[in-house]
Amino acid sequence: MSDTDAATFWDGVYAARSAAVDPRPNVRLTETVTDLPPGGALDLGCGDGGDTLWLARRGWHVTATDISATAVERLTALARSHGVGDRVTAVRHDLRESFPRGGFDLVSAHYLHTPFDLDRAAVLRSAAHALRPDGRLLVVDHGSTAPWSWNQDADTRYPSPREVATGIDLDTSTWTVERADAPRRTATGPDGRTAEVTDHVLLIRRTA
Ligand SMILES: C[S@@+](CC[C@H](N)C(=O)[O-])C[C@H]1O[C@@H](n2cnc3c(N)ncnc32)[C@H](O)[C@@H]1O
Repeated sequence: MSDTDAATFWDGVYAARSAAVDPRPNVRLTETVTDLPPGGALDLGCGDGGDTLWLARRGWHVTATDISATAVERLTALARSHGVGDRVTAVRHDLRESFPRGGFDLVSAHYLHTPFDLDRAAVLRSAAHALRPDGRLLVVDHGSTAPWSWNQDADTRYPSPREVATGIDLDTSTWTVERADAPRRTATGPDGRTAEVTDHVLLIRRTA
């Protein structure tokens, strides 16, 4: 696929389904963040916005970003309708070209997978550098493919959390890996089907 099609592709994914009314947060986010005090968060590849909405409801100020203008516009409207419009700033970025400005206590990148070229290590390195001291970068990738995924390529190999950490190549005097594992969960697809899937979870904390 040509790179110029990336925004069109993802816009098409979101336009093909109706706007989510109350999207659910990802479980790896809720289990990681529930005990953290609210601060500033960045949601990379926010999609339907379930994570952003959950964070904003808990008092976080969230910058949410996605390559899809449809996703960003829908999330702006959704945040307003849930009464958290003042805590959500949804902005369109193609992370291959630009990265949101600012410092954050949490950067979340959930399933930031795409069929187009994306230097994820560079994006995640920018995310780690955008952390305030004691801030956390949570990277959750697929470790297996759900039956309803847009990606049904049997040859897809998902890097392990340790491989993702190695790719980001952070200085251990400033960042530390707090979690790198591959838990399983029961996922529910858009049509209500369920399947057992594996997540690759990497949690990095900025120590200085
Ligand atoms: C698999 S979806 C995950 C969405 C959401 N984080 C979730 O957990 O449901 C990947 C998201 O990354 C976004 N994305 C893909 N390439 C991107 C890029 N180059 N810049 C910004 N966002 C991108 C897509 O539009 C899509 O919303």
